[in-house]
Amino acid sequence: MIKFENVTKRYGRKEILHSISLNIPKGKIVSIIGRSGCGKTTMLKMINRLVPITSGHILVNEKNILNMNPVDLRRNIGYVIQQIGLFPHMTVHKNLELVLALHQYPKRERKERIDEIMDKMGLTPDLLNHYPIELSGGQQQRIGVARALITDPEVILMDEPFSALDPLTRIALQDDLKHLQNKLQKTIVFVTHDMDEAIKISDYICLMREGHIEEYDTTETMLRHPATPFVENFIGKHRIWNSPEFIKAKDIMRPSVNTCYTQDSLERCLKKVQNTSYPYIIVIDPKTKKFRGFLDINSLQNKKAEQATASDIMYCPPSILHVEDTLTTVLHLIKESPIHYMVVLNDQETVAGVITQRNLLKALGEQYTTETEVM
Ligand SMILES: Nc1ncnc2c1ncn2[C@@H]1O[C@H](COP(=O)(O)OP(=O)(O)OP(=O)(O)O)[C@@H](O)[C@H]1O
Ligand SMILES: [Mg+2]
Repeated sequence: MIKFENVTKRYGRKEILHSISLNIPKGKIVSIIGRSGCGKTTMLKMINRLVPITSGHILVNEKNILNMNPVDLRRNIGYVIQQIGLFPHMTVHKNLELVLALHQYPKRERKERIDEIMDKMGLTPDLLNHYPIELSGGQQQRIGVARALITDPEVILMDEPFSALDPLTRIALQDDLKHLQNKLQKTIVFVTHDMDEAIKISDYICLMREGHIEEYDTTETMLRHPATPFVENFIGKHRIWNSPEFIKAKDIMRPSVNTCYTQDSLERCLKKVQNTSYPYIIVIDPKTKKFRGFLDINSLQNKKAEQATASDIMYCPPSILHVEDTLTTVLHLIKESPIHYMVVLNDQETVAGVITQRNLLKALGEQYTTETEVM
């Protein structure tokens, strides 16, 4: 959707951006993050041609922006900045209407469009008659976002839009943006210097260092496998543990499991259990290898003399985990579980591993007790 091809920016003799190449996919939120002065705002402003490129190209929808009329280009790109930039002598209504007028929306459609966007942003219509100064910082910035969205552009550029707000309002606006994005699926380039904010809202993160891209990856990959020590330091060790949605059952489970087949005799199952240090065995289908149930050592010992097979006495737990289930789900289900372990299945319902309370505790504990990555 937005493509940087070897983009360089110089002010006088000083090179600010060094041959940046970057592909921002349609419908995703990409955060550009980095220390002050590393070139984030410059990158953003080059997209809507507020800052000229020294060399290289930027393509929007596969068209070189230099071959586009800047007015047409900006019509398709909303822009939100930290200072909000509402006109203080105009009511909220006038501020919003101005954008529609600039984009030549017919007068009769404007009212409807304004009401619609106010509603989308969770703003009550009575605010329309107020002047910006009469609104809270959070309300003003919501109007700022509404103004960027009002012409329904495909792309939205946001330059530290929430950084002047108090922490609670900031969190509320981040949540709003995420909800809104689920519905609208815009392509959003979001500049921030707050890693928590970037992790929370972005699909991809572009970490800048002195005019270079240090790493550009999905948020999850950057958290799991930071590409360089600089990235690791920037995001902070073990940061992934602050984001339980990125920690999956597959990261915590013990992959080697002890299995038997549905038609195995109880005696055979018991032998297998006794050969391991675990008091249970997993029963699988001999043909499909799909999970069927558990047997525990106590019931095997009690019934070993019976002429029965594993499938006759196996126990099928009420809830089962999937490899992609998040830590939150794991914790919730294991808390509810009548037994102290849970099986984790692959897509094909074959067994990927087991999570016991013990290895859950071990995985959680490692973030506090070791310096190494917990995986
Ligand atoms: N008009 C200009 N003339 C000369 N140098 C400039 C100009 N605009 C920006 N710069 C320089 O370019 C570099 C990058 O600036 P930019 O505003 O893109 O940084 P930033 O990453 O957005 O920083 P911050 O986090 O502080 O907003 C800085 O060193 C800045 O001083
Ligand atoms: Mg900036």
